[in-house]
Amino acid sequence: MEILVADRLIKDFGGLRVLNEASLTVTEGTITGLVGPNGSGKTTFFNVLYGLLKPDGGSIHFRGEPITGLPPYRIYRKGMALGFQIPRLISRLTVLDNLLLAVRQEDGTGLGTALFARRHWQEKEKGLTYKAREILELVELAPLALKPAGELSGGQRKLLEIGRALMADPVMLLLDEPAAGVNPVLGRKIYATLERLQREKGLTFLVIEHRLEMLLDFAHYVYLMDAGRIVLAGKPAEVIAHPDFYTIYAGESYQWLS
Ligand SMILES: Nc1ncnc2c1ncn2[C@@H]1O[C@H](COP(=O)(O)OP(=O)(O)O)[C@@H](O)[C@H]1O
Ligand SMILES: [Mg+2]
Repeated sequence: MEILVADRLIKDFGGLRVLNEASLTVTEGTITGLVGPNGSGKTTFFNVLYGLLKPDGGSIHFRGEPITGLPPYRIYRKGMALGFQIPRLISRLTVLDNLLLAVRQEDGTGLGTALFARRHWQEKEKGLTYKAREILELVELAPLALKPAGELSGGQRKLLEIGRALMADPVMLLLDEPAAGVNPVLGRKIYATLERLQREKGLTFLVIEHRLEMLLDFAHYVYLMDAGRIVLAGKPAEVIAHPDFYTIYAGESYQWLS
């Protein structure tokens, strides 16, 4: 079953066409990769899918419903969550509080509502704390729950950003380079965590990754983007075996096991 269908998305920045009829579909319960050289439009694609940018053309369907042009909080409520390329953590707050804050920021429940429904709010808060603790177990950060987020390593920050996205009980997560800037061993650990969430909870992942070889063991399907278009699609091993793959990455001295 297709959970997400993006059809011929266009996005222009001034005179620059950054998405040029980019299309992809994601099958429910899979880890699907979006790979491509720097500047090919991957992050812009995510921003359009999640409603942070309005497309200049094309359509998006999520769980069978059109979501094209909806604001992020409405897409979030439909079960999609986005993890940012650069974790948006507040260093002086604890790991646990960063998770709790994620829900308050995203679900649009203003302070006013919280004050008028104090009792309801306290109950909700208790439930959220419980949930946050469960998520910290899942991403293996439970022992660090009360540490300031500023003390986490790069890899741990990435895991916390994934935890923040999970607070929404999403059915689908969009993750922008969840293993960027961490060493390959830790990078594989991050992907193994995603795989566990996919297997045990049936979550669907669409993941941007610059280094296709990181996805070899984890992704069911990958799309290769170049200059705002999807130019190749298939299983990771098939895409890596395709001659166009090398041509596309040739300009930036693609490193095999970087
Ligand atoms: N807000 C923006 N305004 C103008 N140009 C942008 C903006 N965001 C991205 N771009 C341009 O769009 C292109 C694709 O960027 P991006 O989506 O970040 O690529 P990727 O994530 O694949 O590295 C780049 O040429 C970038 O400079
Ligand atoms: Mg990017």
